[in-house]
Amino acid sequence: MSQDSAKRLAAESALQYLVPGEVLGVGTGSTVNFFIDALAPRKSEIPAAISSSLASTERLKAIGIPVVDLNEVDGISIYVDGADEADAGLNLIKGGGAALTREKIVAAASQRFICIADRSKRVDVLGAFPLPVEVIPMARRLVARKLAAIGSRPVWREGVVTDNGNHILDVHGLQISDPPALESTINQIAGVVTVGLFAHRGADVLLLGHADGVDRIE
Ligand code: 5RP
Repeated sequence: MSQDSAKRLAAESALQYLVPGEVLGVGTGSTVNFFIDALAPRKSEIPAAISSSLASTERLKAIGIPVVDLNEVDGISIYVDGADEADAGLNLIKGGGAALTREKIVAAASQRFICIADRSKRVDVLGAFPLPVEVIPMARRLVARKLAAIGSRPVWREGVVTDNGNHILDVHGLQISDPPALESTINQIAGVVTVGLFAHRGADVLLLGHADGVDRIE
């Protein structure tokens, strides 16, 4: 089975968590794009969505689901999003698509975070996928030096500007044995907007698509 087919399976299986009549949080990426496609026949059940990126906003609007500002709602029952890596504790690395800041905000606003991915994203220790860190542009080199000082190798994702007008450093060489601690450490660096480590608020359910079906971890 191709990776895309596995992503599609995981995305379709997230439909079981929809809460009809409630605002839905929607993340970003190719797996989420499959989820949005699968949502189309059930759009009448979703009064509105909160989107984590301009790209997902466009896709949601294209299938007829209104996208509203997070400030217009009191909370979100379900948030569906992908991941670049996930461990057994449902800690995640996210931000491969540079949408990590809005993703973290929507995850924080949601009661339940359903993470969808193909099974290759499941790892024993996070860090083989370079950890994205969104930084204020003027602080890029400062943050890079601080990250190098903790033994990692930050690489500027040149040419990428986030939806918030910021830059991304991809941090190589990490073996993340204590995800909440590293998330806190990187959050403390001046100039960091968001670290793409979702540990303090990880996923609640992980759906992993593969050739024989979908594994559910919670
Ligand atoms: C975007 C993300 C995505 O969820 C992550 O990169 C996974 O993407 P894909 O579903 O395309 O594999 O965090 O910022």
